[in-house]
Amino acid sequence: MDVASFSAQLQELQARAVTSIAAADSPEVLDVIESGMLGRKGELKGLLGGIGQLPAEDRPKVGALANPVRSAIEDALAQRRVGLESEALDTRLREEAQDVTLPGRPLWRGSLHPLRETEREIARIFSQFGFVVVESPEVESDELNFGALNMPADHPARDLWDTIYVKEPEGIVREADHERLLLRTHTSPGQIRIMRDSEPPIRVLTPGRCYRYEAVDASHGFEFFQMEGLMVDEGTTMAHLRGLLDAFAHAMFGADRATRFRPGYYPFTEPSVAFDIGCVVCEGEGCPACKRSGWMTILGAGMVHPIVLRNGGIDPERYQGFAFGMGTDRIAMLRYAITDIRAFLADDMRFLERL
Ligand code: PHE
Repeated sequence: MDVASFSAQLQELQARAVTSIAAADSPEVLDVIESGMLGRKGELKGLLGGIGQLPAEDRPKVGALANPVRSAIEDALAQRRVGLESEALDTRLREEAQDVTLPGRPLWRGSLHPLRETEREIARIFSQFGFVVVESPEVESDELNFGALNMPADHPARDLWDTIYVKEPEGIVREADHERLLLRTHTSPGQIRIMRDSEPPIRVLTPGRCYRYEAVDASHGFEFFQMEGLMVDEGTTMAHLRGLLDAFAHAMFGADRATRFRPGYYPFTEPSVAFDIGCVVCEGEGCPACKRSGWMTILGAGMVHPIVLRNGGIDPERYQGFAFGMGTDRIAMLRYAITDIRAFLADDMRFLERL
């Protein structure tokens, strides 16, 4: 071995290293080449291990030849690493590119049920007058649904509501009839609960599902929704009731909507009224929707009967109150021009999506 043959071998090693570095397609492959060529047990070390065979004065010459070979290989490695990184970046950019000109993919749209929407709108209107929403149970005692509302067991007015009673579980015996459970026929038992649970001044709305043993048709369901209102305070009068209901009718059915009170009857209010609005279909001209009267009844109302106030733990000598109850389904039907109450609970997506 002489300096010339060391030089030739060094050149050959550099050429081989540079070729394989150029062909490397990942940083891992470069790592393998690096340790194979330049590592502690690499080819360059191996080659220089033979330097001892040379005369002492030639050894530095070979060392001087080896240094540029090492740097050339190191440079080639560094360059290829940078090259691989930018190739990887290019590939990622290409793969992750978004075509912002593509059409969108529609998401499923949800909405509130028309009854729920109507309930919220009613509550929104009354909230402007300080009314707050309080819920009350659907399974009620006979006592709260009827008795405390001034309808004792044999009261003929109970016939106004065809009641669905709850079958008592095996082994449960109710001591008295008024403890029997039923599905509330109206939201009015909520009045008693609220009066017993709070002190005047009271301004509440009680929305919810009610049940009656009815033959189902386009305007009657055996389950339906009501919205009850109750106000109790000192000096509350029928005039406040009328003013409030007028404001409600105008907010819900238009500022020009005509309104009127007609005498009505409920055992728990005295006096009692029916509240009518000008027909929303014919605007009062007379049409089949209003049975040619020009008017539509939207709720029942009245001054809370003193007996009912007392049953609610409120002194009728000091406080007066009014109450009203409306069919949420009916309000929603008028609002959205729906002609069949059964549509609300039929779960027909075409109906629900159209509104
Ligand atoms: N509860 C009555 C009904 O179901 C409506 C009503 C409520 C009437 C409050 C007067 C006062 O028809």
